[in-house]
Amino acid sequence: MQQYIAPSLLAADFTNLKEEISKINNSEADWLHMDIMDGVFVPNISFGLPIVKAAKQLSTKPLDVHLMIVQPEKYIEDFKEAGADLLNVHYEASLHLNRTITKIHNTGMKAGVTLNPHTPVSVLEEIICELDLVLIMSVNPGFGGQDFIENSYSKISRLKELIERKNSKALIEVDGGVTSKNSSALFKAGADILVAGSFIFNSSDPVEAIKKLKEQ
Ligand code: DX5
Ligand code: ZN
Repeated sequence: MQQYIAPSLLAADFTNLKEEISKINNSEADWLHMDIMDGVFVPNISFGLPIVKAAKQLSTKPLDVHLMIVQPEKYIEDFKEAGADLLNVHYEASLHLNRTITKIHNTGMKAGVTLNPHTPVSVLEEIICELDLVLIMSVNPGFGGQDFIENSYSKISRLKELIERKNSKALIEVDGGVTSKNSSALFKAGADILVAGSFIFNSSDPVEAIKKLKEQ
């Protein structure tokens, strides 16, 4: 179990990204999570390639890019060039998932598949061995600051069981509604990486908030 923290930049102060990213650089955070929304796959638009490029110049942490867009396979090279280290595509947005994952790996990036709250873990049965990571959405994607969906705990267990049964090396990442109240239970349930946006950036001391998420 890794017990990584990936702050989500979506909740940061966009008028002061340099300062916000430097707080993350000076913290115990492991990755920087970046949420790309297209207004089609999810009912919100966030930011795109230029912001990923800027973050790459400022961040000392690897960029964990979460694509909430239709036809993610069209933009794999672009996100590689912008500086993504790990690219997450949604299962629900990827018709030819195997081809998309191969394409991501061919660029040298790590590849993750994200599942919406209603999508069962069992859909990954035939592809789990190809993945570096599975991202379980513990809120409906599109917005920060939503309430954690409690069913996510048992979903983590089902994913862990699948990973072990298939002898896969995939890590388990959980995204949405993560706070210091549920972080320790999520790690115990089998999560390797927790994404947190509002809990970190809305706090008066983001560095301390990250530390709290790591405390067991
Ligand atoms: C939601 C995004 C999340 C979001 C998490 O669609 O994928 O990464 O920023 O925000 P919080 O931690 O506030 O739920
Ligand atoms: Zn996300």
